[in-house]
Order: sequence, then C-alpha cells, then structure tokens
Amino acid sequence: MNLTELNKIAQAMVASDKGLLAADESTGTIKRRFDTIKLESTEDARRDYREMLFRAEGLSKYISGVILYDETLRQKAKDGTRLAEVLSKQGILPGIKVDAGAMDLPGSPKEKITEGLDGLPKRIAEYAQLGAKFAKWRAVIDIDTDIPTAYCIHTNAHALARYARICQEGGIVPIVEPEVLMDGAHDIDRCAEVTEETLHAVFNELHLQGVALEGMILKPNMIIAGKKSAKQAGVQDVADRTVISLKRCVPSAVPGIMFLSGGQSEKDATAHLNAMNKQGPLPWKLSYSYGRALQDSALKTWAGKAENVAAAQKRLIERSQLNSAACAAKYTGEAA
Ligand code: 13P
Repeated sequence: MNLTELNKIAQAMVASDKGLLAADESTGTIKRRFDTIKLESTEDARRDYREMLFRAEGLSKYISGVILYDETLRQKAKDGTRLAEVLSKQGILPGIKVDAGAMDLPGSPKEKITEGLDGLPKRIAEYAQLGAKFAKWRAVIDIDTDIPTAYCIHTNAHALARYARICQEGGIVPIVEPEVLMDGAHDIDRCAEVTEETLHAVFNELHLQGVALEGMILKPNMIIAGKKSAKQAGVQDVADRTVISLKRCVPSAVPGIMFLSGGQSEKDATAHLNAMNKQGPLPWKLSYSYGRALQDSALKTWAGKAENVAAAQKRLIERSQLNSAACAAKYTGEAA
C-alpha cells in the first residue's frame, strides 16, 4: 500500500474545516426519503436530486468529498457529464459506499452483520478506475436490554477491518463506520459503554489486520441518549462525553473523525460538533460526514420540482457553511 498517498487523501478530507456530504443512500433508503416528499424514486428522480445537490454553487468551500452510491458513481448528469466528474471538476473528492448492507446476524435475530466482502478487491479496483478516492462501510450496532452481544460487535469489527485493509491495498481511503444506533430507549451512559466497547474491538481488529491508521477516517456516532429515552442530555454533555470516549479509544494516528448524524436534527448535529471543537486542541480533526443533517431541509425545499432547485441548493449551502463553522468552533447558533 502507498501510505503517503492514502494519508494525503485522508488529510484532504478533513482540511480547511471541510466535511463530507453523505449522499450514498441505497435504493431502499432514498425511496424512504423521497416518500417524505411524495416523490416516486425513479432513476431520473435520483439523478435530478443528486445533480441538484452536487451543482450547488460554492459547495467545495465547505465540502471536501461526497459519498456516492454505486448507481450515482456511474450515472450521468442531464448534460451527459458523469456525476463524479461534476464533483471532481470543483475539487470535491468522489467516494463510494461499498458495503452491501446490514443483514440479519445468523443466530442472533435482533442483530445485524454488514455484508459485502465477497469480490471486494475487484470492486475496489473498478471504483478506483471510476475515480473514487475513498470508500465507506457501515456496521450497525443496536442497543436494547440484551444487545449488543460480543458476537455482534466482534464479527462486525472483523468485517470492518477486512474491508479497510482491502481498500488500502487498492489505493482507496477507508471510512470505518461502526454506528451505535440512537434509536433505543437507553441513556447516555449506556451509549458510552457500548460505543467504547465497539471502538476498542474495531481498533484491535484494525491493528491485527495491519490497517494503517494514518490512511483511514473514522466515522462514529456521538455519545448521545437513545431517541426514546426520557433522559435527554444537553449539548455540552453530549460534546464532553463524546470527546472523553473518543480519547479513550481512538489513537492519535487517525487523521480525522467525521461523525454521522444518525437521526439528530440538523441544528443538534451542528451544535454538538461545534461544542466538541471548542475543546481543542484535540488529537484528530473532528468534522462531519452527515447525510440527513445536511440534506433534510434541502430535500424538503426541493420537493421534486425543478423550480425549487436554486432554493434547495441554498439550504444545502447554508447547512454546509454552518457545519464548516462548527469545525472551526465558530458556530454561533441560529434562530429557533
Ligand atoms: P446520517 O448522517 O443521516 O446518519 O447518514 C450518514 C451515513 O452515511 C450513515 O451511514
């Protein structure tokens, strides 16, 4: 592997207070998002939506890279330019989701294992040819009274490390995403406990499998109470707890930690990131790799109509700018 090159890409992903736009919703997920605006999810509708996002003027000031789904990496804009090229022409790095999704974990019906390792080296070589500079693999760890099991954490950690090593051998920077879900009724302490356990397992596997930490990005959840918990933590608490857990588990050789938003509101996701960066200097860059927390307002504003494109692009730029400010600990809040 060429570690200098991998490190250069990883550094570029977190440079200049920039973050990632996660636009890699699978066909099933984007359909659910389009359902909220009552739009049928056709190939053209998906193209129009993503082209709208990628052509937002000034996006590259705040966004260093975009995570794409396989269909989008191969798709052409209306004028025939490949969508990946629309991004690279503005200096935005195209990335690719390479996992095949979270499937039922054999023998543990409430849990998931992420699949997609079969044939991955070949797919990575093709994605590199198509211009992808980085990849993403998401493992899902759910919390309930009797889960996660050690079995679920360790099989997912093992697969994440296998994926990461394959990426690095193919010249692509892996985003390692172990997502502890915030869907449950658990409190913030339980989230911290499970997240730390998961991160220890993941970094142990990365080490065992020879993944170069300087050539990867970590995409974790924040330490936050479950959505159904009656005990919601405040912004400062989430920020403090997240930084404490990350310091315990993430070696400083990792160039950047780029959070998922996981179902937080747009404002919460920005406020949490800002409060964490206020605690700097930290051992790694802390930035964003948001899907919903960058797209929610833009999607609603667009509503599938060509006449709303400019207004929707404005929403995306606003959110990106605010999150970029949060990377510099300069977010000053916004009207309710
Ligand atoms: P959210 O920010 O909507 O959680 O999406 C980020 C992502 O890529 C999840 O895999």
